[in-house]
Amino acid sequence: MFDITTERPGDGTRIELLLNRAFGPGRKTKKSYRYRQSVDPLADLSFVARAKADGAILGTLRFWPVAIGAHGALLLGPLAVEPKLKGQGIGAALMFHGLDAAAWARHSRVVLVGDLDYYARFGFAPAAPMGLVMPGEQPHRLLACELAKDAFQGVSGEIRRHPGRLVRGRGGLMAA
Ligand SMILES: CC(C)(COP(=O)(O)OP(=O)(O)OC[C@H]1O[C@@H](n2cnc3c(N)ncnc32)[C@H](O)[C@@H]1OP(=O)(O)O)[C@@H](O)C(=O)NCCC(=O)NCCS
Repeated sequence: MFDITTERPGDGTRIELLLNRAFGPGRKTKKSYRYRQSVDPLADLSFVARAKADGAILGTLRFWPVAIGAHGALLLGPLAVEPKLKGQGIGAALMFHGLDAAAWARHSRVVLVGDLDYYARFGFAPAAPMGLVMPGEQPHRLLACELAKDAFQGVSGEIRRHPGRLVRGRGGLMAA
């Protein structure tokens, strides 16, 4: 049994160790990590699955701001679950909770790099046919999800590292 909560002070080291176990120590060489260098994850959208019994961190999900042209979007990930606890619904619980929280916070666009076979169940679809590009990533692994109707309409091109802060504009959050 577990709860989903936002990260708390002191969780950081345990999350790093969990990510190393889930992805292997070379994980930071992944291209998608360049979007995370010198950019903090969004604190109100950084979640852990925490064991009710002893508070152990069983899973982690973070979101990072990125830019697509003048528009803001969220980069979802990493998502990881303690390897010995895979297949118990922890990943799905983090995904549903995280996407719901992002929608409540009025984010409308989410992208990620991952397996469509896993992420389709949460509403993700291939992003390349929508005209979205993430240099260095295999196009079929770039996925997108709209949290508001037609959120990606007229939003295409290269996904870029977030240049600054997000401001609220017509049609949702935009890169400042
Ligand atoms: C991917 C991950 C987060 C899923 O977490 P989880 O708690 O095991 O997932 P859930 O219990 O919610 O769902 C399990 C289901 O997803 C499926 N699944 C898991 N990873 C999958 C993948 N990469 N592609 C397709 N299906 C996948 C399982 O086969 C299982 O299917 P079933 O419900 O038909 O039995 C977890 O396996 C993990 O941490 N993997 C290592 C890190 C990783 O690859 N993260 C994702 C980056 S793309």
